Amino acid sequence: MRIGSEEHKELFCRSFLSSHLEYDPPELPWPHLTEAELARLRAIPVWTMALQTELNAGVMVNGFAESQPDWLIRQAIRLQGYEEDRHARMIGYLSQRYGLDAQPTEPTLRPERRAFIDFGYAECVDSFLGFGVFRLAREIEFLPDALISLFARVMIEEARHIVFFVNWIAYERARRGYGAPLLQALPTAIGYVRALAKNVGRAKAVDQKEMGFAAAGEVFGDVTLPSFLRTCLEANESYMAAFDPRLLRPQVIPHIARFALLLMGQRKKSPKARTIPHNA
Ligand SMILES: [Fe+2]
Ligand SMILES: [Fe+2]
Repeated sequence: MRIGSEEHKELFCRSFLSSHLEYDPPELPWPHLTEAELARLRAIPVWTMALQTELNAGVMVNGFAESQPDWLIRQAIRLQGYEEDRHARMIGYLSQRYGLDAQPTEPTLRPERRAFIDFGYAECVDSFLGFGVFRLAREIEFLPDALISLFARVMIEEARHIVFFVNWIAYERARRGYGAPLLQALPTAIGYVRALAKNVGRAKAVDQKEMGFAAAGEVFGDVTLPSFLRTCLEANESYMAAFDPRLLRPQVIPHIARFALLLMGQRKKSPKARTIPHNA
């Protein structure tokens, strides 16, 4: 299959559309939490930022979808917008139910191509790290599994979003005549640099708030950078194994992580990844 062909477009759009999960956040089996568990959940300092990110994404992605001339691509990006909105509803419901006090403002992201591309690369970075944090949180039992497991569907959706994005952007560039690997390399590098720079800014913002990472730090205290990166890589491989082998996958961040492990002399061959199916 040639990247940029009709066949490629059909595959990345239709596999995205057909793997959509049906659920409504308030209908999920939200568990009762003890006071200690509530305190731990409330000490995580990211709720407002997480909710704001999803709200911004929902509005921007939905708006951007409407600018797409191709019917199939429009349907797929609309579906992503719906899923981002639902992530916002998921965090909003969590915040309301457990008193997390997330206080977002009006979404301001404009529904433009530049914003969609920036968001796509940012999702590639965030999802890779998120897969690792999610797996560790489950292993360490940072919170009851009855709560953490509700977010497994969100992780699967983010995996679908980033696979859709890297295929969409490669398809777009190929259609515009910039499909050659070298012509793709520069805008891809710029995209990741912008995403990483944004992450550094966000980390500083959280740091400045000096909120309770201490609680998380105690529980995640044994996790070293190499073990975290290995967990991210293994989790990422499990999510990526569920996709059609003809589809492109995000490569840059996993390559950087492998390279970092190599520099630290820490790269162990990971066992064959367990596939996380889209309906897990
Ligand atoms: Fe999302
Ligand atoms: Fe997403």
